[in-house]
Amino acid sequence: MPSVFIKTYGCQMNERDSDAVAAQLVAKGYSMANDPLKADVVLLNTCSVRDAAEQKAIGKMSHVASKLRSRNKNAVLGFMGCMAQSRGKELIDKLPDVDLVIGTQKFHRTVDHIGEVLSGRVNTVVDVEEEKGSEATIREHLLDGASGGKSVTSFVSIMQGCNQFCTFCIVPYTRGRERSRSIEDIVGECEDLVNHGVREVTLLGQIVTSYGRREIGVKDGKSAFVQLIEAVHEIDGIDRIRFTSPHPKGYGDDLVQAYGRLPKLCESAHIPVQSGSNTMLKRMHRGYTRERFLDIIFKLREVRPDIGITTDIIVGFPGETEEEFEATMSLCREVEFDNAFVFKYSTRRNTPAAELEKQLPKELIEERHATLFAEVNRIGASNYKKHIGSKMQVLVEGPSRRNKDRMQGRTRCNRIVVFDGGDRFRGQLVDLNIIRTGLFTLYGDPAILT
Ligand code: 5AD
Ligand code: SF4
Repeated sequence: MPSVFIKTYGCQMNERDSDAVAAQLVAKGYSMANDPLKADVVLLNTCSVRDAAEQKAIGKMSHVASKLRSRNKNAVLGFMGCMAQSRGKELIDKLPDVDLVIGTQKFHRTVDHIGEVLSGRVNTVVDVEEEKGSEATIREHLLDGASGGKSVTSFVSIMQGCNQFCTFCIVPYTRGRERSRSIEDIVGECEDLVNHGVREVTLLGQIVTSYGRREIGVKDGKSAFVQLIEAVHEIDGIDRIRFTSPHPKGYGDDLVQAYGRLPKLCESAHIPVQSGSNTMLKRMHRGYTRERFLDIIFKLREVRPDIGITTDIIVGFPGETEEEFEATMSLCREVEFDNAFVFKYSTRRNTPAAELEKQLPKELIEERHATLFAEVNRIGASNYKKHIGSKMQVLVEGPSRRNKDRMQGRTRCNRIVVFDGGDRFRGQLVDLNIIRTGLFTLYGDPAILT
């Protein structure tokens, strides 16, 4: 059977989608290749959030096409995901070597489309239509971890799309309107994962706090999302639950209280803030204020004082003033994020922000990015140091990426800890003494493992 190489750009949703496509291909007898130039099928699962991500995927595809076609003229080349969705046939016009363009609602059709092209029945396929029920069409998992052993953690997609329409963001156009899977369906998938050795699930969606708003609604003062977390919490064999990404607007007291009630819900929260300035948040159409964001953080820390909090921030949004940028800097100092992903604003076609006047010069965006990035790293590093001398529980995932003789796991607050230990610890919850820190890594004391 032919071999397939898949490369993923962008967010965890894309990783999850690629994983499901790979599992479907393996189930049909395809093998997975590590080298695109030795594969019969090359799929790039693309991201459109920033222009740089699109350019990377286009560059990679033209490189692969120029090398692979001369070796294997029947090789199948395909784009999947967000850029495939937003650009469609235009991608084949630009890169005529491309055979497949598969949108975000059509991942489950990938196997069939590859078969049609390989058999010569069709030359090219562009499949980017909307499809009703597409939020529930892929639930397969490839459960062999990167290191060859079984994965103990897994992503579970709970919804698709976003209705928020932040003015800078292309996601509502590439992923469509919000559609949620049912609680029963998601619980069923989690139970299957437990039967395959998974102990930690991360519930995924573009805006998980909007999960089931229309389909399920509020019950006993609990949002549909909190009802879902409770249902997953009931599953025997799941030790840890995480989710990403919530939106501050939907981060209600019921969700904060869930952290107090549900011990499997890990004390880590990634809550994108984007800006610390109220005028900017308004222009971004975010739907909350700085004060509201700070209130959520305050309440979360009241319930779980050791919660790890991370965020996303955009610098250089059109018209960003010095004061607005300073407000973001001061918010970072006030919250003391464990980490923040700082992005340079990237103009996305057809978004409202692309039409705004006062797009900032590239140099100013670079400068602000460097300033904020340095501040965020300074705060993050000093937070990491505070863990030295403490005991932390990790779920051991497998060998360390850097050094295969060591094992690595994640703390409940989502920090990576590396320690000397063998494969027998994989999948175990282990308490480690933290002895030192690297940049965004903790090192645990092996002494307690005797
Ligand atoms: N430019 C820069 N960053 C963006 N993001 C989304 N759209 C853009 C854009 N046009 C960032 C946001 C979001 C993260 C996934 O990507 O911070 O939270
Ligand atoms: Fe994009 Fe805003 Fe939706 Fe997040 S909430 S996916 S930033 S539109």
